[in-house]
Amino acid sequence: MKAIVISRLGGPEVLEVRDMPEPAAGAGQVLVQVEAGGLNFADFMTASGGYPGTPKPPLIAGREFCGVTPSDGRRVMGYMQWAAFAERVAASTQLLWPVPQAWSAEEGAAFPVNYFTAYCAYWKAGLLTPAKAARPRVLIHAAAGGVGTAAVQIGKLLGMEMYGTSSSDEKLTRVAELGLQHGINYKHHDYEEVIRDLTHGEGVDAVFEMLGGEHTNKSARCLRDFGRVVVYGAATGEKSTLDPRLLYAKGGSVHGLWLTYLSANRELMSEAWKQLSAWTSQGHLHPVIGQVFSMAKAADAYRLLGEGKNFGKVVLQIS
Ligand SMILES: NC(=O)c1ccc[n+]([C@@H]2O[C@H](COP(=O)([O-])OP(=O)(O)OC[C@H]3O[C@@H](n4cnc5c(N)ncnc54)[C@H](OP(=O)(O)O)[C@@H]3O)[C@@H](O)[C@H]2O)c1
Repeated sequence: MKAIVISRLGGPEVLEVRDMPEPAAGAGQVLVQVEAGGLNFADFMTASGGYPGTPKPPLIAGREFCGVTPSDGRRVMGYMQWAAFAERVAASTQLLWPVPQAWSAEEGAAFPVNYFTAYCAYWKAGLLTPAKAARPRVLIHAAAGGVGTAAVQIGKLLGMEMYGTSSSDEKLTRVAELGLQHGINYKHHDYEEVIRDLTHGEGVDAVFEMLGGEHTNKSARCLRDFGRVVVYGAATGEKSTLDPRLLYAKGGSVHGLWLTYLSANRELMSEAWKQLSAWTSQGHLHPVIGQVFSMAKAADAYRLLGEGKNFGKVVLQIS
């Protein structure tokens, strides 16, 4: 079968389409004929050697996919740690979900990581069942990205007042159409100052922080009393710095989120799917696909994501 292989550690140039051995489904697994794969920032980091727990190359890239189970023709979307960008995968039945009717394979492939991560961010922020009295405020970094657009769609359903950052006015205009009320172009404005002004000095209830470096402290400074920073990435490539004194000040807290780890928690994943599938069946969630690439152009897809030029999800067609 054909697969996208990380031939050695490095940039997008290390990706190769190769013939690889067919996978065999083990206990608790099922074979899936893959049609599309969703590209994640984690895939970019895996190729360059910066993602924890990944085997050494050569290995098949990819952590989410959409396809059909040949045994019974079910359309499914799934999540794994690597080996998703191949014509066939052996997928865990625990991390495989039915594709909502009328969704394309590309939309299915754009769902698992973004929506489970965004759901878990609201869960970690304690905002899934917000108090009725006040409209909770959330600051979403990279609001125009894969997880970001999912967080905006979910935030709209939860009744959030949302503030989102991006490097581009054009991207912010498109996220506004998804329900983002306050777009902040961080190339032109300091988001900390904007949050202070827009919230009359009060701050936000939660920040979804995936930038790392100085942004964890800056995000903590955006909190209101008892607010939470949910840290879940370091797209700047810089290790987070955190001054705990910022948390003492307002009784704030910092929470970690890693889907790789949380996906092993059956109760949490099943609760998340119960809510996410209800929203999708009511037509409320729509994976945002920015760009679609063929397998042969996988390196271009990685490049686009690494340069932060994507809008929503970058998807690979697997065939
Ligand atoms: N912990 C978890 O379980 C988990 C799960 C999924 C994703 N993540 C993390 O969440 C983040 C977003 O992932 P994603 O796959 O949805 O990617 P993405 O948001 O679609 O793409 C990354 C975006 O980050 C923004 N960005 C800001 N500073 C950047 C920089 N220095 N370099 C590159 N991009 C920068 C860019 O948007 P603008 O140009 O609009 O600023 C870019 O489009 C990543 O850090 C990823 O590792 C974590």
